[in-house]
Amino acid sequence: MSFSERSRSLPASPIRRLEPFAEETRARGIRIYPLHIGQPDIETPGLFFESLRKFSSRTLAYGRSHGELGLIDKIVEYYGKIGIPLERENILVTNGGSEALNFAVNIACDPGDSILVPEPFYPAYAAFASLATAGIIPVTTRAEDGFHLPPGNEINKLIKPSTRAILLSHPGNPTGVVYTKKEIETITDLAVEHDLLLIADEVYREFVYMDEPYLSFGKVDRLRDRLVIVDSVSKRYSACGARIGCLVSRNREFMSLALKHCQSRGSSPTLEQVGAAALYETPDSYLEAVNQEYRKRRDILFDGLNGIPGIICKKPEGAFYIMAKLPVDDAEKFIIWMLQEFAVNGETVMASPAEGFYATPGLGKSEIRMAYVLNEEDLKKAVGILANGISAYPGKTL
Ligand SMILES: Cc1ncc(COP(=O)(O)O)c(C=O)c1O
Repeated sequence: MSFSERSRSLPASPIRRLEPFAEETRARGIRIYPLHIGQPDIETPGLFFESLRKFSSRTLAYGRSHGELGLIDKIVEYYGKIGIPLERENILVTNGGSEALNFAVNIACDPGDSILVPEPFYPAYAAFASLATAGIIPVTTRAEDGFHLPPGNEINKLIKPSTRAILLSHPGNPTGVVYTKKEIETITDLAVEHDLLLIADEVYREFVYMDEPYLSFGKVDRLRDRLVIVDSVSKRYSACGARIGCLVSRNREFMSLALKHCQSRGSSPTLEQVGAAALYETPDSYLEAVNQEYRKRRDILFDGLNGIPGIICKKPEGAFYIMAKLPVDDAEKFIIWMLQEFAVNGETVMASPAEGFYATPGLGKSEIRMAYVLNEEDLKKAVGILANGISAYPGKTL
């Protein structure tokens, strides 16, 4: 028997790949502070669970491939409230933002085509491009510049005849970057000039910690027809396990192709759509409180990391991640060492090695990504353990 090359060359997730090491560590009775995955500890609004308890149908049936109208109407209402008027036909419910991304990349690209992606990027982008046998053209961004984009003329030079789309997250995972109005204009100019689809992954839209207002790509008139927004309830309502997201687009052809993808998998889970519809009734005060909580955690983590000799990082502007360059030979080795050989009073820390967040070979080797999804006290302890770990690590470069 042989299996597909497409599957063989699919990169394993740098966020989940080291889980077996963590399981062994836990089996030894060591507590791990999980900074490696964007799984918030924030409670899911109770409305989700209440709506499930009220579900009265005696049969758990397939739903519509487009998504349940009750949920779609709530999403339309939510977008209207943030100043992006939509119709039902502009929305397709998906199994998380992940499926929306997978569909969007596959609709944009034939084998051999390419997508332009600022790096470091969310690693699933590389996985979905790989499944579509499309290439990633990385636009390298650096901590020194706060992971903001290089000038438009530099990005322009990277675009090839095979390039079909620009894919970015805004606010950014793993960088925490929030693009400025000028950067959004630059991206728009490039998409229009080269006739590209823009796939804007805005699943962290509510998690912005700057004074300037957040500008969604959905508000840019010139992008109307060439924009696809990827959205999800996972982070907004701390409902990662619901696996409910959506594709948002005003491009009719894109949406009719996307519907065929939706039909091929039947429908999204019925109960979770009921729960997700209820989540959209969550009062704004919940999102405001969660924003304040993440802002506090960001400051704690950033200040803590800054106090560790040899660490380089920039204060994130949004989302709930931070990239940090460590004074170590190899970040992955360091993380495994922390899991296998290091603990303070029976506790250690897990982060994600950042190499898999880059497409350019060699970049990210000594970098890690951390998610500030733990409460204040745990975060402080985790930073302390990390500092001790670096100073004890045999492969430190300081
Ligand atoms: C930037 C970004 N996009 C999309 C997703 C996928 O989210 P989900 O499939 O849970 O909706 C994630 C999850 O971490 C993410 O960080």
